[in-house]
Amino acid sequence: MDQSIRFWDRIAERYSKRPIADEAAYQKKLQVTREYFQPDMEVLEFGCGTGSTAITHAPYVKHIQAIDISSNMIGIAQGRADAGNVRNITFKRSSIDEFRVPDQTLDAVLGLSILHLLDNKEAVIAKVHTMLKPGGIFVTSTTCLGDTMKFFKIIAPVGRFFGVMPLVTVFTTKELEHSLTVAGFEIDYQWQPGRGKAVFLVAKKPYSTEAHG
Ligand SMILES: C[S@@+](CC[C@H](N)C(=O)[O-])C[C@H]1O[C@@H](n2cnc3c(N)ncnc32)[C@H](O)[C@@H]1O
Repeated sequence: MDQSIRFWDRIAERYSKRPIADEAAYQKKLQVTREYFQPDMEVLEFGCGTGSTAITHAPYVKHIQAIDISSNMIGIAQGRADAGNVRNITFKRSSIDEFRVPDQTLDAVLGLSILHLLDNKEAVIAKVHTMLKPGGIFVTSTTCLGDTMKFFKIIAPVGRFFGVMPLVTVFTTKELEHSLTVAGFEIDYQWQPGRGKAVFLVAKKPYSTEAHG
């Protein structure tokens, strides 16, 4: 974890200046997400990075808690929110593992470009399910490297040893769907802008919350 924090802290400034790789796809994901929002909603975004997505969504919900393990990312995000006079986002340095809210209190959770960076994806998905109210949604956009790289489970490049690359875990779209349904979610919306691109999913916690086998 410490290595991951150091990595993201170090690249935060550069990350904030990087143009969005596929602006049209990003805009579509924002639009689809917004169609699920209501003005009274309490939202969590974990791995919020430099805050752009939370700031864009803020006018459409009541409140967003936006967390990230990197204090440099959070510093940039808070600066952006202050500059835009956005007052309904609470930015906090926290990993998703240490973050606590009472069970069944969130209406929506966003985890964008993050699930493939976790070494405990299943536990995090289960935690998101517990934090959501029945009927709540989990919005995620995830690079599913297993669709194109069949023989690896994890990429731990030499660069990771030197702290210049993050850990990346490898799973297929089908495996991600399975992880979500096993946790008790139903896939409500799914879209992939093109082969090899991140898979965008909106998973819903049903009103009856029995987990599937
Ligand atoms: C690829 S960036 C994505 C940032 C943003 N969600 C986006 O779509 O641009 C991944 C972010 O997740 C954060 N992160 C990595 N592991 C995390 C964890 N366990 N808990 C919370 N944040 C984490 C990193 O610091 C980084 O800002």
